[in-house]
Amino acid sequence: MSNASRKKLLLMGRSGSGKSSMRSIIFSNYSAFDTRRLGATIDVEHSHLRFLGNMSLNLWDCGGQDVFMDNYFTQQNSHIFKMCEVLIYVFDVESKEVLKDIEIFQKTLANLAKFSKNCKIFILLHKMDLVQLDKREELFTIMMKTLINQSLKYGFQIKGFPTSIWDESLYKAWSSIVCSLIPNMEHFEKNLLKFNDIIEAEEIILFEKTTFLVISHFSSAQEHNLLTGAGASDLDPKRFEKISNIIKTYKQSVSKLRTHFQSLVLHGSFSSIFIDVLTDNMYIMIVLPNKSLESAVRDKDEELLILDNIKRARKWFE
Ligand code: GTP
Ligand code: MG
Repeated sequence: MSNASRKKLLLMGRSGSGKSSMRSIIFSNYSAFDTRRLGATIDVEHSHLRFLGNMSLNLWDCGGQDVFMDNYFTQQNSHIFKMCEVLIYVFDVESKEVLKDIEIFQKTLANLAKFSKNCKIFILLHKMDLVQLDKREELFTIMMKTLINQSLKYGFQIKGFPTSIWDESLYKAWSSIVCSLIPNMEHFEKNLLKFNDIIEAEEIILFEKTTFLVISHFSSAQEHNLLTGAGASDLDPKRFEKISNIIKTYKQSVSKLRTHFQSLVLHGSFSSIFIDVLTDNMYIMIVLPNKSLESAVRDKDEELLILDNIKRARKWFE
């Protein structure tokens, strides 16, 4: 495997901020409840994760207790911070030591500026579920403003997300992180358009197979939906990460029955949904409008045709 497809990701933040919890949910099929039994990470836990077949993610989950952090910034600094593609820095929004949290973040930036100055930085303001609903946006804005200012001093631009393991926000953040590493994104986008010329879907979404993170999507929602009267603005902006979350949970339930999830077809009043394996590394979800209110249920032949089209499209996405 070439170096280009092997990516080092640092997962950092103070102890208890939720790093190992999110790693276990996204990459190891833990539920949010399961994370309560995780112990504090000792030093660094390495995971080698295959993503989209030819990409290998080297995730360094760095235990956040002060004694370990001090060590990363001194004896271990070149080992930890060299050749990093991405830093995911997690802040606990309920922390009582915000100044200390920011000070440690600054030390992280200083080391990255020295050893990996082209590293992409993502900030997760985590455990948002613990903040009152109407205070979340304000808190996020204030905290990000401070962190952006700090980062600019070290020459980094950062991207932030409010997250929680108790809702779909985690999937939005991690989809964005992982998509930033995929080099041939335009290839997927181009082929989604091409595929849609054939099947004329309302929406097509590509998911990575094991994590169910969204890789790419096509939406014709700009065009007014004649049947439902719905336009783009009527669609839930969080629908992609919600689907990731729901299907991932569904996959876990199915695996407890000692079987595995392969495909799913749902018929609604206005549209039908097809979720199926596309390639060895991807699932596809297609939302097709019903032709008229009378034809709410597609006949079996039509359903088979769509599933067959998915099989035929496979070569475009491998
Ligand atoms: P170290 O390994 O010591 O650096 O800590 P860590 O950052 O890996 O923290 P860990 O993932 O072990 O999580 C600590 C606790 O926070 C666990 O009990 C989790 O269940 C809890 N936790 C993680 N994410 C969330 C969240 O989004 N909301 C809430 N309320 N609790 C969370
Ligand atoms: Mg941990």
